Amino acid sequence: MPLKDILDRALAERYGVAAINIFNDLTLEAVLAAAVEQRSPLIVQTSVKTVRSIGLDVLYGMWETMTAGIEVPVCLHLDHCPERDVITECLRKGWNSVLFDASRQPVEENLRQVIEVVAQARAVGAHVEGEIEAITGVEDGVGSDDVAKRQSLEVAVDFIQRSGVDVFAPSIGNAHGVYVAEPTLDAQRVTDLVQATGIPIALHGGTGMTDAQFADLIARGCAKVNISTGLKVTFMKTNLEFLRGAEAANKWDPPSLFRDVRAAVVEMAAGYMVKFGSVGKAW
Ligand code: 13P
Repeated sequence: MPLKDILDRALAERYGVAAINIFNDLTLEAVLAAAVEQRSPLIVQTSVKTVRSIGLDVLYGMWETMTAGIEVPVCLHLDHCPERDVITECLRKGWNSVLFDASRQPVEENLRQVIEVVAQARAVGAHVEGEIEAITGVEDGVGSDDVAKRQSLEVAVDFIQRSGVDVFAPSIGNAHGVYVAEPTLDAQRVTDLVQATGIPIALHGGTGMTDAQFADLIARGCAKVNISTGLKVTFMKTNLEFLRGAEAANKWDPPSLFRDVRAAVVEMAAGYMVKFGSVGKAW
């Protein structure tokens, strides 16, 4: 399913679609199962690191196999990718959308390149997320902890209109990773961008935001809500807890470990779908 179809509908009805960064077969299968269970649309994201660690062909093969005949709208999205060759390979292979991340480059250079990426994507019926300000924090080796310069609303609107991107990721005080304190978010910027351009907004750094923040930002037009750290933490902690139990009992059964971890991931993903209001929104 094309990203734009999923997001335009979410924007019109003001619910959010979880965009979850998976990193192996178990997490991919579990988030898809949550979407089916909740009758919710879902965006599955892959970082460049995940594409490299699993391998493009194997990863895409997993996606094709696991989504064959699926009855809810799902799409495969390449998250923060500064590398044009990886963008080209993923679009060629069948990814539904990409985030071309040239946010640390001057806006004009970013625009020049994103126009090329949009043309490449259109040629295969795919969509593009754009950003002109880096999201604070390092995620899977991409990004920086330095707070990037924010652009004016005029510059952002001009970039969106001239580039033709389908979804835009602004920096609004959000950050990747674990928040040390509740973030102060510039929600008005989301309203201003949606009013000026009519396109859906991608909310990065979802892990650790409060329910009230999610509700407010989704109502303003954040139709895509990114979750990465939350899944990593759930995955690692459930493994740790299970392995501690296995050690104590001296029982070593991998399928039981996978069953526990899968259940925790399904529960986590379903919880976000409930929070974002996408339950029952499959068509
Ligand atoms: P978190 O890691 O904070 O959940 O952010 C996810 C994200 O924005 C991925 O691009």
